[in-house]
Amino acid sequence: MSSLHPDPTTLDLNALGLPAAERDRLAELAVASHRIITGHQDPGGAYPASPDFSAYAGYAWLRDGAFTAEGVSRYGDADSAGRFHDWAARTLASRRGQVDGLLAVAAEGRTPARAEMLPTRFTFAGEDGTDEWWDFQTDGYGTWLWAVVTFARRHGRGLDRWRAGIEVAVDYLTAFWSLPCYDWWEEHAEHRHVSTLAAIHGGLRAVLGADVLDPVRADATASVIAEIRDLVRARGVADGHLTKWLGTDAVDASLVSAVVPFGLVSDHDPVAAATIHAVAAQLDVDGGVHRFAEDVFYGGGQWLLLSALLGWNLAVRGETAAALTHLRWIAAQATATGELPEQVPGHLLHAEHRQEWLDRWGPVATPLLWSHGMYLVLADVLGLLPGEPEERAR
Ligand code: BGC
Repeated sequence: MSSLHPDPTTLDLNALGLPAAERDRLAELAVASHRIITGHQDPGGAYPASPDFSAYAGYAWLRDGAFTAEGVSRYGDADSAGRFHDWAARTLASRRGQVDGLLAVAAEGRTPARAEMLPTRFTFAGEDGTDEWWDFQTDGYGTWLWAVVTFARRHGRGLDRWRAGIEVAVDYLTAFWSLPCYDWWEEHAEHRHVSTLAAIHGGLRAVLGADVLDPVRADATASVIAEIRDLVRARGVADGHLTKWLGTDAVDASLVSAVVPFGLVSDHDPVAAATIHAVAAQLDVDGGVHRFAEDVFYGGGQWLLLSALLGWNLAVRGETAAALTHLRWIAAQATATGELPEQVPGHLLHAEHRQEWLDRWGPVATPLLWSHGMYLVLADVLGLLPGEPEERAR
């Protein structure tokens, strides 16, 4: 387990002999990704998960948005990413009263009802939706803390502007981090998920290192960071790798986030290598990455954002050729207009379940802004964004 992970270095691809024409095509998809993300950004700053997809339309998730903002920030568009962070901080700050109420219940030794917790997704106005959803999930709050601190550091900004929202997220997470909740995929609310714990850990550690917390919050944050680390070490590792939830030996592709970017496990730790290896061996098929072995959502296809997440990890480990395979695979899934879907059906784990989701929600979410954001992250890590950041954002 390590301190905050250093910014991944930009890698030299010349040695891999990437043809200039393909390099240009990969760069063009980055330009299209930025255009698609910012074209759909709500005037108030929210990034819609997928603008027209039946089940997501009208909603913004902190998980999706924080990773998307990271891609946009790496692309050099501090204005768009900053407006997302303004939206997120404003939305959280407006929940001060709700969180104080939850903390009061906890102070009496009671666990608040799930329905009272903060939502998983928000309307663009920062409200709860009126449609049923799989609330409650804590990872997005940690991911946002990590993203806003990373953004501020990259662009030389102070965090004061977002302090009220940061404090709400810190108070919420330090009080409720250990409760079972839905995972990244909005499933299995009965478990404690290692990728959820990793996101919380990554967010709290980022914010602690940014020196923005008062002493009481800083102490609570430091304790929770240590508790998460010890808990995962004791109950979230099997066969040398991290596990999908505490007490199983299964993996989930989201687990590699515990290495990069969240740094719950340092990349020198054998657990990091074993986790990346287990995910690659069990879930990567020709560059496209499945969520987990039992996944039946749209038949359990390959997810573009997970391909990028694994590629990001591999690039940071110096496995540039493998990382590039993931970027190429993602690019090959783009539609004629350069849109990236959530998942593709080229290799399905449970094909018999695909039709039921098509019937229920229609075609797979396209574009998924999180897919585009992760493409930007991996393209940046591989040094494949065109030109200089200042020029790109214009
Ligand atoms: C995924 C979530 C995601 C949401 C919005 C769901 O299907 O499981 O991870 O946050 O879609 O993109």
